[in-house]
Amino acid sequence: AGEFSFVVVSNRLPVDRITDADGNPSFRTSPGGLVTALEPVMREADGAWIGWTGSADDEADPFEHDGIHLIPVGLSAEEIELYYEGFSNDTLWPLYHDVIAPPAYHREWWESYVQVNRRFADRAALVTAEGGTVWVQDYQLQLVPQMLREQRPDLTIGFFNHIPFPAYGIYSQLPWRTQIIKGLLGADVIGFQRTADAGNFSRAVRRLLGHQTKGTVIDVPVTDEEAGSAKHRISSVKVSAVKGAEAGAQKLVRTVVAKAFPISIDAARYEELARRPDIQARAKEIREGLGNPAVVMLGVDRLDYTKGIGHRLKAFGELLADGKLDVEDVTLVQVASPSRERVRTYQMLRDDIELTVGRLNGDYSTISHQAISYLHHGYPREEMVALYLAADIMLVTALRDGMNLVAKEYVASRFDNDGVLVLSEFAGASDELRTALRVNPHDIEGLKEAIMQAKTMPKAERSRRMRALRKRVQEYDVARWSTSFLTALATPSDGLVLPK
Ligand code: G6P
Repeated sequence: AGEFSFVVVSNRLPVDRITDADGNPSFRTSPGGLVTALEPVMREADGAWIGWTGSADDEADPFEHDGIHLIPVGLSAEEIELYYEGFSNDTLWPLYHDVIAPPAYHREWWESYVQVNRRFADRAALVTAEGGTVWVQDYQLQLVPQMLREQRPDLTIGFFNHIPFPAYGIYSQLPWRTQIIKGLLGADVIGFQRTADAGNFSRAVRRLLGHQTKGTVIDVPVTDEEAGSAKHRISSVKVSAVKGAEAGAQKLVRTVVAKAFPISIDAARYEELARRPDIQARAKEIREGLGNPAVVMLGVDRLDYTKGIGHRLKAFGELLADGKLDVEDVTLVQVASPSRERVRTYQMLRDDIELTVGRLNGDYSTISHQAISYLHHGYPREEMVALYLAADIMLVTALRDGMNLVAKEYVASRFDNDGVLVLSEFAGASDELRTALRVNPHDIEGLKEAIMQAKTMPKAERSRRMRALRKRVQEYDVARWSTSFLTALATPSDGLVLPK
């Protein structure tokens, strides 16, 4: 066994490779919430993080960054193409987002996925201490839990799926549907964003493997040998419901919990940034730069077809055409950060969005006022907070989204209790952010009405809605997310806490 008692495994390490002032390559902690959430746990438990550095590299040595042990896993150029761009982002991503784009099924992509998952599992098996805890993240690594359990039955294994889990009718398209389900069931706790995702998973388990499920608990049959080596979570159940079993016989099962743990952000950190005078000055400067329009609307997304950017532009364009909106007093800022640029569907989306933006600007912009300010860049967190403060209306129109943290970031930044959030009901955040203006982005008329409602909403109503949103986001922050997941993981069966 290795030296680390707490190990996080994700496709990407929580760092970005940068070139410093002297031209030397180095790393910067990425602004994601996951690192912030796990940093305290990492320090306390002397934890390590296993992941890919983001480039085609030979395997680099483990290193320490900002007090976290990072263990790089190398991917070859071919693996990036087959495992990452192929199976992860051209098969699983569209399939799990309700086939908004058609998933491609290629056997060589699957083989590479298996091979890379094995590499991550082997690495985790090597570095984790006896009886330690491993927390595997997201759809790129769904086979890791079972691969790890086979080698290290002494470990407690968690898995969190950051994206949706589709209904069985869609999931069942996947030629490797049974292997993936079995891979996930290697975990003790499988976390999802929404209750509906956890339900979809449990249904897939019943349909494909016939295991019994009771609420959030799934009984996975185990052999005597497996039961002997795994110390926790083994119980004996009547097998009346198990096919081919003798009546009244008992069977050993390992209990697996599958339930929702909605992820969040470091809300206090966003508020702290938003209160900084330099960031407020920057927000003012942004509005001035846009020509001081009466209303600034904002969209912030990775340039991804799941985000409904086209639907948003359609609604905005029609409102301009109808004369309900006028570029003299309204402008839309759309930040579309580059993503997965070598995948064809993403290239087509970019062409499509940029054509639409170009047309709308050509048709409606004036010399002094732009209809849409389109930015194909990623920005540091400070600049994002300034944008949130500058925006009267935030448009989140995802067609499918695990959570959508942008919605929560906007809310957390608005310490002035102002601003209106228009939020798709197909984003996980919609389960929690009940006083947002919730929309079905496919319903363009409804979306247009919500935009107009946001624009004309009285200040008192804006404030009432935003206060309720802020309360939720402040209370259920990312620390609460990681704590509740890790508590469930440390608890042998759902809700039952055993004394240490
Ligand atoms: C989503 C996924 C993450 C992923 C991120 C960025 O949020 O849930 O696992 O890291 O998108 O995508 P990328 O492919 O650049 O890692």
